[in-house]
Amino acid sequence: MRIDIITIFPEMFEGPFDHSIVKRAKEKKLVEINLHQLRDYTKDKHKKVDDYAFSGGAGMVMMIEPIVACIEELQKERDYDQIIYTSPDGELFNQPMANSLSLLNNVIILCGHYKGIDERIREHIITKEISIGNYVLSGGELAAAVITDGLVRLIPGVIGNEVSALSDSFQNNMVAPPVYTKPREFQGWKVPDILLSGNQHKIEEWKYEQSVKRTEERRPEMME
Ligand code: ADE
Repeated sequence: MRIDIITIFPEMFEGPFDHSIVKRAKEKKLVEINLHQLRDYTKDKHKKVDDYAFSGGAGMVMMIEPIVACIEELQKERDYDQIIYTSPDGELFNQPMANSLSLLNNVIILCGHYKGIDERIREHIITKEISIGNYVLSGGELAAAVITDGLVRLIPGVIGNEVSALSDSFQNNMVAPPVYTKPREFQGWKVPDILLSGNQHKIEEWKYEQSVKRTEERRPEMME
């Protein structure tokens, strides 16, 4: 899979993709993540990529030309399955969305800023708008990092033990059961006996019951 991220702050991605599972996925060549500085695509001598809104009011709007120039440059090389825009009013990111995005070959993620992007880009170029939650971030970069992380770990082959990704919270519309490791007892706090019993059938039953109980308590809306 190839992910092209268009941003005015490529430095913001230096941390998130250089560790852990995303780093391993890049090393295994299962994903290629490319960052594009939007300012490189403006003809303005001051590298300006935003301007005042025609409606007036506070806040700047990201301009069409640099965004189109950057996307067209990328499209010269390959077709894209999705051109995503990160925005608080997009469709809420969730596990089914991460699953389906993880199966694509080429994806662009455009990070919004200021008051947003010129609406004509959303109308004519963007194919999917994603929000990572009902709150407003300073820009789309952290959202793009969250989306990228959420889907890269699902690309077949990225997580060695495929069962592990499938048993994540939300994969079966339930949150994951609690987990424990050594020591068996710490300050009188004990690991549930069932997990030490060696009876795999009973352990699976217990995990399922715990998932149901947790989902009812924490995410009742998922049970409906
Ligand atoms: N940009 C600003 N806030 C955002 C959010 N909640 N989701 C996605 N992009 C954003």
